[in-house]
Amino acid sequence: MSHSPIFLQDRVIRAFEHRHGHAPSVVAQAPGRVNLIGEHTDYNQGFVLPCAIDFGTVVAARARDDNRLHVLALDQNNATDCFAIDAPIEPRADAPWANYVRGMIRAMQQQGYVLGGADLVIGGDVPQGAGLSSSAALEVAVGHALKDLFRLDPLCGMDIALLAQRAENEFVGCNCGIMDQLISAQGLKDHAVLIDCDSLALRPVPMPPELAVMIVHSCVRRGLVESEYNMRRQQCEVAAAFFGVSSLRHVSQADLARKGAQLDGLILRRARHVVTENQRVLDMADALSRRQLLRVGELMAASHDSMRNDFEITVPAVDELVMILQEAIGPAGGARMTGGGFGGCVVALMPQAKVAEVKAAVLNQYRSPSGEAGTVYVCHASAGAGRVPPGKSRLEPAPCIIR
Ligand code: GLA
Repeated sequence: MSHSPIFLQDRVIRAFEHRHGHAPSVVAQAPGRVNLIGEHTDYNQGFVLPCAIDFGTVVAARARDDNRLHVLALDQNNATDCFAIDAPIEPRADAPWANYVRGMIRAMQQQGYVLGGADLVIGGDVPQGAGLSSSAALEVAVGHALKDLFRLDPLCGMDIALLAQRAENEFVGCNCGIMDQLISAQGLKDHAVLIDCDSLALRPVPMPPELAVMIVHSCVRRGLVESEYNMRRQQCEVAAAFFGVSSLRHVSQADLARKGAQLDGLILRRARHVVTENQRVLDMADALSRRQLLRVGELMAASHDSMRNDFEITVPAVDELVMILQEAIGPAGGARMTGGGFGGCVVALMPQAKVAEVKAAVLNQYRSPSGEAGTVYVCHASAGAGRVPPGKSRLEPAPCIIR
């Protein structure tokens, strides 16, 4: 699979021309993401440190002169969806992919944006089901395409991210936080972005140029994600209520030490993960800015241990993969599971010079429970969503609002 953004946008534009007999008037793209550190902290109003990656979704669009929305999804075996824009939009049980598009449109309408009929052709190269936010990329790309098509000028990247989260929460039925949609909308080339999920302030953190970002898919399909995810959320809410605060963001390590013993053991461990992970995110932002690779490795290892022992969202194969990576990388750089958990991907940071050796170690030593080798992606921290200018083979990032 090629993951060249130019190859991808050309493929989608050509498919649009082939189907509709004319060029699209708008082409938008949005990237997937990898979270470097800060897991399950976003819905606790805490900190996360993701970067957008050079795998994404492209939407080519053109207005129609009726009130119908026609969607063609190239990567769903050319599946189509078609519905009236001025009638109530309902989820489709038979085509889960379509609900990200429908949900985004409904969220925009609920916010008062007036949309017309349109033809959309969608294609992407974010590995699906791997925890790299292919769904956030789809929602955000659709939001950008419709913003440009219907000249919804006041709509900025932050608004599109919030609408995309609303689509997930209210239409798709996934109770996720804001991280995935926000980094897809607001990523910055060569930077990770420190997100304060309480204030939604963003701080760009330069990626040390000598550092490679490797993502390894464990080939363990993420199981039980929804029920376990919702259960973790509830446990965090129970812990926050015990401390008398609105979210675990407002609990310190000193609070935990003082009152934690009165908490049920499992709830205490859940809270301890979130509280310590928030501090690790801030420390990681510092370590990356100062190019302290040893510290980066320590923080990633501590994050993984906390996810394994306190938050209990890893699985043995992923623990094994992290160990293989940590050993191959050595002390300068590190590895940890990334994303919601229960399978999916591991993220590793290492000097560029180590990439070939680390990749070989993974391919030789790791096997999933069903015998598959891991899939290795070497990524670059990339710009967030934006318009692909007509006739240019270059992505134009949306202006990033740094608050
Ligand atoms: C999923 C959710 C995010 C976040 C992560 C865990 O990716 O969509 O909002 O909670 O899990 O960090």
